[in-house]
Amino acid sequence: MRRRQVLTLAAVGAAVAGCTPEPPASAPAPGASAAPGGPATGLVFPPGFAWGASTSAYQIEGAAAEDGRGKSVWDTFSHLPGRTRGGDTGDVAADHYHRVYEDLDLMKDLGLKSYRFSISWSRVLPAGRGALNAKGLDFYHRLVDGLLQRGITPMATLFHWDTPQALQDKGGWEQRDCAHWFADYAQQMFYSLGDKVPAWLTLNEPKTVVALGYTTGIHAPGKKDRRAAYVAGHHLLLGHGLAVKAFRGTGRKGTIGAALNLSPVYPADGSPGAAEQARAVDLDENRRWLDPVLLGKYPDGWLAGQPADAPVHAAVKDGDAALIGERSDVLAVQYYNPMHVTAQGGRVTKHPTTQASWLEVYPDGLFDLLTRIKRDYGDIPLTITENGMPTVNDVQDDDRIAFLRDHFAAAHRAIAAGVRLQGFHVWSLLDNFEWAEGYSQRWGLIRVDPATKDRRRKASADWYRNVIARNALA
Ligand code: FCB
Repeated sequence: MRRRQVLTLAAVGAAVAGCTPEPPASAPAPGASAAPGGPATGLVFPPGFAWGASTSAYQIEGAAAEDGRGKSVWDTFSHLPGRTRGGDTGDVAADHYHRVYEDLDLMKDLGLKSYRFSISWSRVLPAGRGALNAKGLDFYHRLVDGLLQRGITPMATLFHWDTPQALQDKGGWEQRDCAHWFADYAQQMFYSLGDKVPAWLTLNEPKTVVALGYTTGIHAPGKKDRRAAYVAGHHLLLGHGLAVKAFRGTGRKGTIGAALNLSPVYPADGSPGAAEQARAVDLDENRRWLDPVLLGKYPDGWLAGQPADAPVHAAVKDGDAALIGERSDVLAVQYYNPMHVTAQGGRVTKHPTTQASWLEVYPDGLFDLLTRIKRDYGDIPLTITENGMPTVNDVQDDDRIAFLRDHFAAAHRAIAAGVRLQGFHVWSLLDNFEWAEGYSQRWGLIRVDPATKDRRRKASADWYRNVIARNALA
């Protein structure tokens, strides 16, 4: 079971009273050492650059049946036979729900300026809508307060793939109502946490939900239905726009935007056919998502290119495009791999890959992507919310260090070329549940012991800590 086989600020507010006080400061985080200092030399990043790390709720929290949490589609899916490697589930994951203070101390020790996490919709709203689950919400108050107390800016993602099962039972994202259920939930979060969360993201990678959740079925909810996939894709975008609108309606300060996984697409050779095919793939991979969110319209030719009887035509109502294009403050970019397209429309791999075979390592692709966004979509502030790699190396993960160094350097070049890049969040803070791959792929800066869940900093964590402390690459 291979993932994506087919996939073609830094100002920190003062801590505000939370619901549950944090216990007194604990012992130093495992492996903590004195902060490195020294003048910044080499590739120096702009002052206030938001060095960060990313996680998502289902991948790290565990506590799947605790404190009133409802099930999500990932609880259901991971418990079906044969859907995840080794039958792994997120029931315990990295046990972050119970180790939140230890993890906060590890983040502080790394020197993180920003931490991007996601809220589990079904933890705060067990049935997806209606009354809030106070105990579930309290967890996020503890997390956010703990971040602010440590000088780390919280960045909250509202949807990282874990649709409440109760809403899936009503049709999930295939229903237009789901976009409204999502915006209602988002509004409840803005009111509940918005006085202390300055940075919000609506959706994580709607493209992946469409491709893997609805087209190949290797992710939850496990559908293999192209027609449904297009409709779900439109409703996800509509949910994004409605949530942005709801955010403005609350009058909350702060920023909001979507987190899109984007791939620079290159012709595999110099033939006109390859160039034409690359344009078509770019339309589907990138412009189909960027144009509605940033320009308020589907790209010319994209909707028209869908079969005449495709249900997406009926799903797109007058006014939807403008709603989806509700002004974002930021675009969160997730970059893992480039694509090389042949004249026949096939893909070829031109660079080394990783344990995740889809992850073709090409740091220059990040430069190309960031500068392209500026060129085609203007000067919207950007932040990278995911980039990283899995490795079979345990704590001596020199390959991850090389990977990150090369991608940070590409980001630096983009900044030098005038891109308004405000931050870089490494995927991931912790080893975690990598969806259909279960725990077989380890993406963390921090090792999580598979059995005991004990944390240990990898070499990459120490290296990253130095980069952050110097705000520079040596
Ligand atoms: C991204 C997902 C994230 C993680 C990384 C490896 O597509 O958003 O949850 O799985 O890939």
